[in-house]
Amino acid sequence: MATNGESEQNQTHRHQEVGHKSLLQSDALYQYILETSVYPREPESMKELREVTAKHPWNIMTTSADEGQFLNMLLKLINAKNTMEIGVYTGYSLLATALALPDDGKILAMDINRENYELGLPIIEKAGLSHKIDFREGPALPVLDQMIEDGKFHGTFDFIFVDADKDNYINYHKRLIDLVKVGGVIGYDNTLWNGSVVAPPDAPMRKYVRYYRDFVLELNKALAADPRIEICMLPVGDGITLCRRVN
Ligand SMILES: C[S@@+](CC[C@H](N)C(=O)[O-])C[C@H]1O[C@@H](n2cnc3c(N)ncnc32)[C@H](O)[C@@H]1O
Repeated sequence: MATNGESEQNQTHRHQEVGHKSLLQSDALYQYILETSVYPREPESMKELREVTAKHPWNIMTTSADEGQFLNMLLKLINAKNTMEIGVYTGYSLLATALALPDDGKILAMDINRENYELGLPIIEKAGLSHKIDFREGPALPVLDQMIEDGKFHGTFDFIFVDADKDNYINYHKRLIDLVKVGGVIGYDNTLWNGSVVAPPDAPMRKYVRYYRDFVLELNKALAADPRIEICMLPVGDGITLCRRVN
């Protein structure tokens, strides 16, 4: 059990790293993961993008460095080639993906905000990876609907990363389950939503956390009950649920 002194010390060290949304009990432990295993192996381009993002006022939105490393490893393990990302921001998870794919790999990347993507784009270009990215500015849902209507994209994606508007995750899932291939993976980010998924309804919460909490709870229930997927919820970053399509 932590003494008062220790917990005060923990509090002082909380959330100092940009993108830190760790749900680990001790921040020292999270720092240990970053310093021993993530930062020393982080590709130069990802470091540069992380540092550019750190100066942006909305940097709380970025994918954390440990999650970026996890995604990069996962994509290599499953030999992903054709991927999709919903929610790009400045492109940290996009770059982690682009680095993992083969030279002829593809990422369909969607975000309602192109300006933030353009902050990271010069770094992605310098790393020689922009040819893998098809960026579409605008809401993702109509693009998914169009792809389903086209009929050409059924079961074609090896990996899909969803890190955008939480109130639409269920709507995304209804469409993505059709677009991901059997054996392919969808990753839903923020499924532990700042730990708020276990907070009592009257607990103090930031407004946006409270607003999206019920959507995240509903998604988690729906994924757990969906026989078309196998799932694994990992306490990486703010929680990521991996869904492997089984039929
Ligand atoms: C948490 S950030 C994404 C972080 C990103 N994956 C990274 O690595 O930094 C969420 C993003 O979702 C985008 N977004 C919100 N609603 C959207 C929608 N309907 N369609 C596509 N993108 C959306 C926001 O503009 C924002 O950039």
